[in-house]
Amino acid sequence: MTSLRIGYLVGSLSANSINRKLALALKRLAPADVELFEIEIKDLPLYNHDLDGSYPEVANVLKAGFADADGILYVTPEYNRTIPGGLKNAIDWASRPWGQSSLGKPSAVIGASIGAVGTAVAQQHLKGVLNFSDAPLMNQPEGYIQFTENLITADGEVTNEGTSDFLKMWIAQFSEFVAAHAAK
Ligand SMILES: Cc1cc2nc3c(=O)[nH]c(=O)nc-3n(C[C@H](O)[C@H](O)[C@H](O)COP(=O)(O)O)c2cc1C
Repeated sequence: MTSLRIGYLVGSLSANSINRKLALALKRLAPADVELFEIEIKDLPLYNHDLDGSYPEVANVLKAGFADADGILYVTPEYNRTIPGGLKNAIDWASRPWGQSSLGKPSAVIGASIGAVGTAVAQQHLKGVLNFSDAPLMNQPEGYIQFTENLITADGEVTNEGTSDFLKMWIAQFSEFVAAHAAK
């Protein structure tokens, strides 16, 4: 029986995103009573506060995804040493209308890059944004994944035992973090 629901946002719009593969790996490796589901961001228009009284349906669906989740997981690439614009745009939609932010749920950040930096800089910037939203944010363990060729298959199977063990531990820790904060 599922007892926790974690919504995840993938910061890449690419069909072959290594970060989507990472998200699918975490979904497979999550504890049995934890369900991960995607909160999609790819069809959102650019945020415009003129629309705060009349959100487009796609933005309402985004906010419904946040409302449906006990915790929020951001799985993101690093673009030009920061947060991808598409993900920041989704966060801006989720943060409004004024007084109705969806961001305050227990949250965590993880990401994969081709290079050894493992999205560390983007994650620091994203954590700064999430701190402003006052969301309870898991600081440890950190997850900086260097995506070597075929590390994770398209349907989320991790081909390296050490990485699989690490991701299993990481998502178990985040599940505990969500459960602890959701209970408050
Ligand atoms: C616009 C752009 C900017 C990038 N900037 C960075 C960067 O700052 N740091 C980094 O490690 N990789 C950077 N990369 C390489 C990404 O790690 C690589 O493209 C990765 O596949 C992106 O994740 P995704 O497949 O989930 O989209 C960049 C890629 C793009 C397309």
